[in-house]
Amino acid sequence: MKKALVACFSASGVTAKVASRLANAVDADLFEISPVQPYSEKDLKWTNPLARCNKEKIGKKDVPISGRIENFDGYDVIFVGFPIWYYGAPNIIVTFLKSYDLAGKKIALFATSGGSDIGKTADKLRAQIPGEIDIVAAKRFLPDDNEEALRQWASPLL
Ligand SMILES: Cc1cc2nc3c(=O)[nH]c(=O)nc-3n(C[C@H](O)[C@H](O)[C@H](O)COP(=O)(O)O)c2cc1C
Repeated sequence: MKKALVACFSASGVTAKVASRLANAVDADLFEISPVQPYSEKDLKWTNPLARCNKEKIGKKDVPISGRIENFDGYDVIFVGFPIWYYGAPNIIVTFLKSYDLAGKKIALFATSGGSDIGKTADKLRAQIPGEIDIVAAKRFLPDDNEEALRQWASPLL
């Protein structure tokens, strides 16, 4: 069996719950992708053009992450979770993926959203990350999707 890690960024806790259910479902380790500077409610107000989230998006900014995954080399499959922002992955996910050597790793994306599907998120990430990235799956889940639903999706990847 392949060794799996679930790495998740969650600004308001919805994706984090799905991530912990997924880690339980497939017996994977869990890593929280946390920004060095946490997002306040104001930072996430996308209706304000000057909000941090919009500045990061428009400026294509990297978002520094606190902490690092020990023994990243030991994992075969990395499930990367996040909320959909602007029909794609938040910049912090680009920063995260650029921070590790992904050669030989399988990457599976999962997300929650306010309604959008995961759409072209994988293609957009491929274009933003230099070097090899093998994205093998991408799925949006609902906040209430249970362990069984998550296992059904994730097990064939292991
Ligand atoms: C800056 C920002 C941009 C967002 N863009 C989208 C979007 O394009 N489509 C969508 O359906 N939801 C969008 N959302 C809503 C989130 O994807 C949704 O609330 C998600 O479940 C939050 O997950 P979290 O609690 O793990 O952060 C956006 C939220 C924020 C803060």
